[in-house]
Amino acid sequence: MKNENPIQFESRKQDHVRIAMDPKTQSSSFSKLDRINLIHEALPEINFQDVTIATKPFGVPLKSPLFISSMTAGHQQGREINLRLAESAQAQGWMMGVGSQRKELSEGSAGQEAAAEWKLIRKTAPKAILFGNLGLSQLIQTPLDEVYRLIDSLEASGFFVHTNPLQEALQPEGTPQFKGGLKALSALADGIAKRYQIPLVLKEVGCGFSAATLQKLQSLGLAAVDVSGLGGTHWGRVETERMPVGELKNTGQTYSNWGISTVDSLLFARELKSQNLVTYQIWASGGVRSGLDAAKLIALGSEMVGLAQPLLQAVLTEMRTQKSALIPLMQRLEQELKIALFCTGCESLEVLRQRGQSDSREKGIWTYE
Ligand SMILES: Cc1cc2nc3c(=O)[nH]c(=O)nc-3n(C[C@H](O)[C@H](O)[C@H](O)COP(=O)(O)O)c2cc1C
Repeated sequence: MKNENPIQFESRKQDHVRIAMDPKTQSSSFSKLDRINLIHEALPEINFQDVTIATKPFGVPLKSPLFISSMTAGHQQGREINLRLAESAQAQGWMMGVGSQRKELSEGSAGQEAAAEWKLIRKTAPKAILFGNLGLSQLIQTPLDEVYRLIDSLEASGFFVHTNPLQEALQPEGTPQFKGGLKALSALADGIAKRYQIPLVLKEVGCGFSAATLQKLQSLGLAAVDVSGLGGTHWGRVETERMPVGELKNTGQTYSNWGISTVDSLLFARELKSQNLVTYQIWASGGVRSGLDAAKLIALGSEMVGLAQPLLQAVLTEMRTQKSALIPLMQRLEQELKIALFCTGCESLEVLRQRGQSDSREKGIWTYE
């Protein structure tokens, strides 16, 4: 793959980390998570210590359905951020999606440096369940053997392809070339199924999926789709913050609330699943800020729930203060999720998800206002 100017690459990645911490980049008021209410059970008939959030959605046992959603890589701060994230993922038994491995596809020393970064992370956290990551617009241009190299270098337990048309369209150095995306995904799903027995997951980066698109994905052989909808980090807003004042910035602002919320994307998926029009798993991310948010998304049918920005914020706090922040946050999220299960009378995620499928007054577990 053609090398991007390394200085431009480094500065964009650093901008993203810095700017994503600005509350202006969060589309929280569009999340709709506050419109979903889980119904309190005054007589749960279970003991708190029996509540379990363990899960095995792709054959690998995980202590939690919560995961570290794909973030950054390939710049000065990236290595330390990823080391801390991977160590914590291993310690807590969470799955972690690594940031885009695009740089590893570069020719020469840039590609070698990126591969060395992931090798170091794998060495530091040998038991972490890591998922690789590449953008769809890069996948379209990349021979499959090179994608396999990304999976091998990370010893990945799964692979995310991210689709981000809004971000690529707004980014001055973006690659808004998505023609052939479905074909490329289908070929990768085929190749991965033959060569590895690991899940291929398509994700957005904060703009969600429509019902029509979810249905289009059915025949491709994906293991799951992470809807990653509107309600949290918004890449229209992040890219707009990077722009100097001018017409380009105005264009970015026009799109600052673009997307389909995580909740609406899940409701579309739920409907399609109930008609058997979609059989791959549904995962959720985008605006998840508590274990209660995660419980709501599981009740709507999600198997796994990811967070990006809050975990990055905790890592940056740790790096600034040298005080632990990430593991305490992960533990808080787990505890909040367990309380939601307990107070709805569900002993396990499976029960929460099953009861979430029911619309009946007796068995139903959530309302949408
Ligand atoms: C700094 C930063 C970098 C990101 N980089 C990637 C990436 O390389 N690949 C990807 O699939 N998603 C990337 N994302 C998107 C997240 O995985 C996630 O889909 C999105 O931020 C919504 O989650 P949140 O609201 O919890 O932040 C990034 C997010 C952040 C905050």
